[in-house]
Amino acid sequence: MAIQISPSILSADFTHLAEEAEAVARSADWLHVDVMDNHFVPNLTLGLPVVEALRASASLPLDCHLMIEDPDRWAPAYAEAGAGSVTIHAEAAKAPVRTLRTIRSAGARAGLALNPATALDSYSDLLPELDMLLLMTVEPGFGGQKFLDIVLPKIRRARELVRNSDADIWLQVDGGVSAETIERAAEAGADVFVAGSAVYGAQDPGYAVDALRAQAEKAAG
Ligand code: DX5
Ligand code: ZN
Repeated sequence: MAIQISPSILSADFTHLAEEAEAVARSADWLHVDVMDNHFVPNLTLGLPVVEALRASASLPLDCHLMIEDPDRWAPAYAEAGAGSVTIHAEAAKAPVRTLRTIRSAGARAGLALNPATALDSYSDLLPELDMLLLMTVEPGFGGQKFLDIVLPKIRRARELVRNSDADIWLQVDGGVSAETIERAAEAGADVFVAGSAVYGAQDPGYAVDALRAQAEKAAG
């Protein structure tokens, strides 16, 4: 289980996105791109044109987190645009199996996200369709929120399910991940860590990524 860090550009300076991406290019594994449509979540961020621009300029693979309604309609275009990973929300997808398969066939890793209140059990049969399961550790919509410890038992159960399955599925956590919380998430079994404010709010974002990775690796043992 290799630890990976995916800094969220939601907390970056949007007027200097290319430089902000560059600041973590040598230390991070992915660039986490939060797409919000002001319907699925009460916030509006960016869409396909910005993802295409980042894809052309950034060296890290893009980890697109779609917090949008109707992901069945919109997600395939993100995979076709060259995103390395495309994650849709279980609460929004009407045909998750079809959409996850379309993402994979377009050459991207397929991810499914669950909000803090969404139960894991209803989705456990979908594991073979997934490359990554994202467990939200805040209600989606904004950076800088407090990590929800109530999600820790779900992370543990998800790790157990993944361990017992044949599939190699990454377990991502997103929301409130910081020097204070990353160890508990890693101990519970997460292996891919999204961090927005903890990286881009730091003096040196590249160093913040290295420090978070070291903490997670130590906690995961
Ligand atoms: C929240 C987004 C997160 C956000 C995390 O809905 O999905 O990716 O950027 O920001 P922090 O790490 O500040 O909680
Ligand atoms: Zn996110």
